[in-house]
Amino acid sequence: MFDRLPAPQPDGILQVMAAFRADPRDSKVDLGVGVYKDADGNTPVMGAVKRAEARLVEAQDTKTYTALAGDPAFHQAMAALLLGGVTPAARLAAAAATGGTGAVRLGLELIRAANPAARLWISRPTWPNHITIAEAVGLAWSPYRYLDAEAGALDRTGMMADLEQAAAGDVVVLHGCCHNPTGVDPDLSDWAEIAALCERRGLIPMVDIAYQGFGEGLDADAAGLRHLASRLERVIIAASGAKNFGMYRERVGIAMVITPEAERDVVQATLAALNRASISFPPDHGARVVTTILTDPALKADWADELEAMRQRIQRLREGLAEAVRAETGSDRMGFVAAQKGMFSTLPLTEAQIAALREDHGVYAVGGGRVNMAGLTEESLPQVARALAAVLRS
Ligand code: LMR
Repeated sequence: MFDRLPAPQPDGILQVMAAFRADPRDSKVDLGVGVYKDADGNTPVMGAVKRAEARLVEAQDTKTYTALAGDPAFHQAMAALLLGGVTPAARLAAAAATGGTGAVRLGLELIRAANPAARLWISRPTWPNHITIAEAVGLAWSPYRYLDAEAGALDRTGMMADLEQAAAGDVVVLHGCCHNPTGVDPDLSDWAEIAALCERRGLIPMVDIAYQGFGEGLDADAAGLRHLASRLERVIIAASGAKNFGMYRERVGIAMVITPEAERDVVQATLAALNRASISFPPDHGARVVTTILTDPALKADWADELEAMRQRIQRLREGLAEAVRAETGSDRMGFVAAQKGMFSTLPLTEAQIAALREDHGVYAVGGGRVNMAGLTEESLPQVARALAAVLRS
């Protein structure tokens, strides 16, 4: 039977990851997969994570199953981090998931279970896995305009005009902050407009928030989500702890749903049942480390300081790259990268220029022009600026 099995579509981000690993050049620079790197090009375990893990090893006396939805203490800690108290617990359902990806999957499976006719509205561009998961789950989707590529800014008019086409019950997939792949986020007045549109047209936002703390800070990065949460009856959240706790391989994630109180218990039971049908009990180690950090004021402060240092480093790299490209090209065409947020920017490059960056200069960007600013180091930045100038000239 497998002779008729169609080969899966390759994922652009994972292809770049594999090509980078296979490249023997010492001078290669990985601006592909969304992983933070320090000044030495390493992705170390955060200090607060190390300490929380040491505590867990010492104190944990069982590794028996948690609950199907994971540990309620994890739900509470993540709700406080994400929502800052704007939503009462009686309106919150939640389930631990296998990373942010698993949380997206769980959120979409919940939507399909509740309303298989719901259409997803997904920004163009978006993280490619949003589309892969939507199609795997079997939900219809349509793109909405998002990026004004020349300005490196939000295409407000296009976005709102496209979302006006959505029907009641449709779901708008939004990036909570640090939009992947563009680094372009709605500002507070845009979030207010999005909330008003969802309310007026009966749309449900699903907010994928994987980079809280990398944009403008932990609270500022959640301000849009909190606005939606305080204004709307229903919001679906898919959150990741992979990046802001640096626990990529531990698969820390949570799906959270804000509902009217009367619907909360059935949503909670459905999230648990969906976990049962796919992974049974969710992974616990990373979630427990996150809970340990978020519920201990000293650990939390250390973690927040470390994350803030990472955020500031990315911001300096952004400014450094904008300046270096300006110096190399005499043009401010890529000046917008300094103002964008989080790990990613989408550079206005053709696929031929992206291939030339990779083949001639060993600089790996994802198709469509996405570069991970956190993959730059002070050492590699001039090389990348020269490579960009060279491909822009060609
Ligand atoms: C990325 O966008 O590079 C990360 O979220 C990693 C992934 O799984 O795609």
